[in-house]
Amino acid sequence: MSKTILIVGSSGGLGQVISNWFASRNFKLALHYHQHEPTIKSDNLKKYKADITKESEVKKMIDQVIADFGKIDIVINNAGVSKSEISWKTSSENWDHTLAVNLNGPFYVAKYVLPHMRENGFGRIIFMSSIVAQTGFIGTSAYAASKAGIIGLTKTLAKEVASKTLQ
Ligand SMILES: NC(=O)c1ccc[n+]([C@@H]2O[C@H](COP(=O)([O-])OP(=O)(O)OC[C@H]3O[C@@H](n4cnc5c(N)ncnc54)[C@H](OP(=O)(O)O)[C@@H]3O)[C@@H](O)[C@H]2O)c1
Repeated sequence: MSKTILIVGSSGGLGQVISNWFASRNFKLALHYHQHEPTIKSDNLKKYKADITKESEVKKMIDQVIADFGKIDIVINNAGVSKSEISWKTSSENWDHTLAVNLNGPFYVAKYVLPHMRENGFGRIIFMSSIVAQTGFIGTSAYAASKAGIIGLTKTLAKEVASKTLQ
């Protein structure tokens, strides 16, 4: 039976390429978007609009995908924003928004999909970090911090889900 894959941020540059790749390989696709509805066409495909900075919208989306497809096997946490500003000129709005989309959003997705995957005994979640999380890059303080946070989140989740007994 083909796997169901939820692609969060399927409407952007990388998201469209990833979606097309999986669509041509017979996966069942749950395609998330925020402001730009994906135009891709495929038989086993449904689209979901959500602002991932809002926990309630993420929960609703995960519940709806499970209701529609019966399960979620794989998630690609691909949504992200980047606005270049030198650190001392970075507004708190830019900082907060970058962290909200790039770190809070993927966390909410994992939070609501993991219990379902643990119950099913199978699941894969892919997070999109960035090389700047490890190297730093001028003008990317909020972005680099959010992507470094993703690395810590991923490593911790990996340890948590390795145990079948944690409640
Ligand atoms: N491109 C690169 O060279 C590169 C390098 C390293 C890492 N990355 C990472 O790879 C991922 C994809 O990059 P990209 O260049 O393809 O980005 P992109 O074209 O700008 O696409 C961004 C995606 O994030 C979604 N998004 C933005 N704000 C959102 C919100 N509040 N709620 C839900 N979704 C939201 C957008 O949805 P809508 O368009 O529907 O609003 C879109 O699908 C990002 O996480 C990025 O940081 C990219």
